[in-house]
Amino acid sequence: MGQQAHGNSFRVAARKNASLSRDREGVGAVTYGQMNDLSYVQPPDTLARILKRTSELGFELASEDRTGALLRTLAASKPGGRFLELGTGTGVATAWVLDGMDSRSELFSIDVDADFQKAAGEALGHDERLTLISEDAVAFLARQPAASFDFVFADAMRGKYEGLDDALRVVRPGGFYIIDDMLPQSNWPEGHGSRVLALLETLSARRDFEITPMAWASGLVVAVRKPS
Ligand SMILES: C[S@@+](CC[C@H](N)C(=O)[O-])C[C@H]1O[C@@H](n2cnc3c(N)ncnc32)[C@H](O)[C@@H]1O
Repeated sequence: MGQQAHGNSFRVAARKNASLSRDREGVGAVTYGQMNDLSYVQPPDTLARILKRTSELGFELASEDRTGALLRTLAASKPGGRFLELGTGTGVATAWVLDGMDSRSELFSIDVDADFQKAAGEALGHDERLTLISEDAVAFLARQPAASFDFVFADAMRGKYEGLDDALRVVRPGGFYIIDDMLPQSNWPEGHGSRVLALLETLSARRDFEITPMAWASGLVVAVRKPS
């Protein structure tokens, strides 16, 4: 008990010191209950060019930086991994995932919109670890063997609200299934909120996955297939 109290007071003192030193250096504030999290994240070198093109094309569905940072961190846990992104868009999350992958890993990214995917190819196509595929996500998933990917970022409606069973089927034991856009957004179509809730229920009922829903960034769920 005494030791625990000592431990807690030590942590409080350490946090106060952290706050003081950060403020003096002008790096960013560390205050109780708050963290300027993005100030500690260095985006991929490729991102600025992609975001410029994303803006020129008027593509408004790009992943935000927090999501990208999380994806990159998780990607780094799968050396030699097989990665899948459903919904390339202009390549924003693609850039983050590639930045976390090691040289032996490979990423397949799927989209039906050739114009957006072309922008991703222009910025990232030189990376031999990346294969861009123009195909419907559900059709692609249906052709994949079970347990064939270490990491699935499902960022299209297909692979989340349709074809969910196949998207989960392809995840290897210990592998990730990650989704975002689970918090309310102004561009949601009528009735989409109830589909989001139903998806959360479905995922939480899966005995073969551990899930962590995160009310953070655009709202994410990180799911991992349990080792069999
Ligand atoms: C939310 S955006 C993807 C954003 C991107 N992952 C990023 O990080 O910026 C959804 C994408 O899904 C694509 N999409 C729509 N229908 C699809 C389908 N049937 N199969 C695959 N992709 C599809 C859209 O063209 C769009 O680029």
